[in-house]
Amino acid sequence: MPTTPPPPEPRSAVRTLLRLWPYVRPVRARLFTAAFIAILASCIGLVIPLVLKWMVDGPIADRDPAGVWLGALYLLLLGLAEALLFGFRRWLVARPLSHVEAEMRADLYRHLQRLPVAFHDRWPSGQLLSRATTDLMLLRMFLAFPLTFLLVNGVTILVGVIIMLVQDWTLGLVILIPAVPVLITCVVFEKRYSGAARRAQDQVGDLTTVVEESVLGIRIIKGFGRHRSQARAFRELSGRLRGTELHKARLLATILGVIVTLPELAIGAALVLGAVQVADGSLSAGTLVAFLSTALALRWPVDSIGFLLAMSQEAATATERYFEVMDAEPESGVRGGGVRSPGLRGAAAPTLPHSPLRSGGGTPIAHGGTSQAVQALGEARLPAVAEGLVFEDVSFRYPDAPPDSLPVLDRIDLHVRRGESLALVGATGSGKTTLTALVPRLHEVTSGRITLDGKDITEMSREELRSRVAVAFEEPTLFSASVGENVLMGGGAGADDLGRALAVAQADFAHALPQGVDTQVGEQGLSLSGGQRQRLALARAVVGRPDFLVLDDPLSALDVHTEAAVEAALRRVLADTTALIVAHRPSTVLLADRVALLSGGRITAVGTHHELLRSNPEYAHLMSGDPAGEQEYQR
Ligand SMILES: Nc1ncnc2c1ncn2[C@@H]1O[C@H](COP(=O)(O)OP(=O)(O)O)[C@@H](O)[C@H]1O
Ligand SMILES: [Mg+2]
Repeated sequence: MPTTPPPPEPRSAVRTLLRLWPYVRPVRARLFTAAFIAILASCIGLVIPLVLKWMVDGPIADRDPAGVWLGALYLLLLGLAEALLFGFRRWLVARPLSHVEAEMRADLYRHLQRLPVAFHDRWPSGQLLSRATTDLMLLRMFLAFPLTFLLVNGVTILVGVIIMLVQDWTLGLVILIPAVPVLITCVVFEKRYSGAARRAQDQVGDLTTVVEESVLGIRIIKGFGRHRSQARAFRELSGRLRGTELHKARLLATILGVIVTLPELAIGAALVLGAVQVADGSLSAGTLVAFLSTALALRWPVDSIGFLLAMSQEAATATERYFEVMDAEPESGVRGGGVRSPGLRGAAAPTLPHSPLRSGGGTPIAHGGTSQAVQALGEARLPAVAEGLVFEDVSFRYPDAPPDSLPVLDRIDLHVRRGESLALVGATGSGKTTLTALVPRLHEVTSGRITLDGKDITEMSREELRSRVAVAFEEPTLFSASVGENVLMGGGAGADDLGRALAVAQADFAHALPQGVDTQVGEQGLSLSGGQRQRLALARAVVGRPDFLVLDDPLSALDVHTEAAVEAALRRVLADTTALIVAHRPSTVLLADRVALLSGGRITAVGTHHELLRSNPEYAHLMSGDPAGEQEYQR
């Protein structure tokens, strides 16, 4: 099972969050406007205490009711303006920010599609799912709220403190005393919370993986009565997540405790000192009222710092997790022009005896048909164009395999001539699936190369390669779509192609489904039988009339009669297609013109079925269906 990739080296939250800039850039004008409006609204809030001061020292002291009403009207207007501006800010950011989230999600999805199979082998799907959902939601919340309010509250606190110092600087200094311990607490909190946030978000990913696996594997879980152990695994993971969340809550409680208590104490102290000064007559009552209401107005900006920092930290973690996926190298495209054997250039160039194409050197490859072609040309040492599918000295080792392990495929030389079908036979685990996956470049060869009609597959664009090569795997994957849509994914234009492909794959059952080929097959096609799914996958492989067909044991789930019918129809398709077919049964092997035996990572024999049956004991064993034979030759 894939494991969670290790978290990267720690970076500061700010630096991590700065990576969001390309996504935020298009909406920066609105975001800045919104921040400005929020600052304005917040500062209007700070004017309210000054009006109070004017009221207390003026109309209230003079017992002037008209003045009091006027003051009240001012207060009402200020409060209204503040509320309207905050509402306007919200309206400004809501739409663009959901756009940012959608963009980021679309980018992630696009990137996931382009990442190599090796990446998906390594990463658990729940980790990817949680990044595309929870993490992006955290990011949107961060952009909507903490990003603006860390700034707004910072400015508000600064302006408020200045106002208080101007009112009475001794009282102002009293209020400022807790600033130092609060700052220290914030720094310590940031550090601790970042670790906990990372752990929690990774654990959400692990939990998602378990849920996803148990939903997809529900048949196995029920069939083996494993729901208790599965539930136990789930409980354990969710218990761990709960522990981490509680740890986060404790950290948050600590910082809130400090951030709320110390300033309140300072306000209390200032109140006592101020009251004494008012009694002495050295301070006006209005100033004390203004001072205290400013201090109280700053309570929310100060108290909220804990939450805002926590949310920012979670957003930084989310950004980090998002970019871990985005930074993974996508499938490499066309490999830049390395030195190639001159003879293999220009597959379409005719090999005429007196061709002016006298690029020196010997024939680069001489396998099977090509060697015969070269011999037929006599002395004329012309560049041979290897038509068909050629494996040239191909070795392969899975990227995550230990470096000292044996390669799965070891210096494979194989030539499937144009129009020929070659069966690939080998014991389980001998690397047949791996070999077929190399042709559409689901994995990259470790060394050597593969050519299609003389052209290196790494020199083709993926679109070109995958339009020429069609594949069907042993485990047929269908999507939540109609039967027709699933088949036509393989290319082909319309109803005619669809009908033909269904006929070839003996998948005519599709017409008898409730809505014919428009019937939805359900998630992963689980509403169909294994053999039905295999036949649809086969139809998908042949529907686009590919030049090259790679079939990894495509008939394994069929009964003998259906298999024979599929084979008869395939024979017609295969007549003009170059095909590599992994096969286990003699009946499938007989479809092919020749057979290659894969053993110990190498091609140990090539020939017709009957030749190999006579000359190769391992092949004879594999074909005899003798169960002892298989084990004997496994490595
Ligand atoms: N994604 C993978 N990562 C690492 N090793 C793998 C992977 N897939 C297959 N292998 C290993 O490669 C070997 C060949 O596997 P495979 O090509 O599936 O064999 P076959 O199709 O002949 O049964 C096996 O030993 C298997 O364990
Ligand atoms: Mg296999």
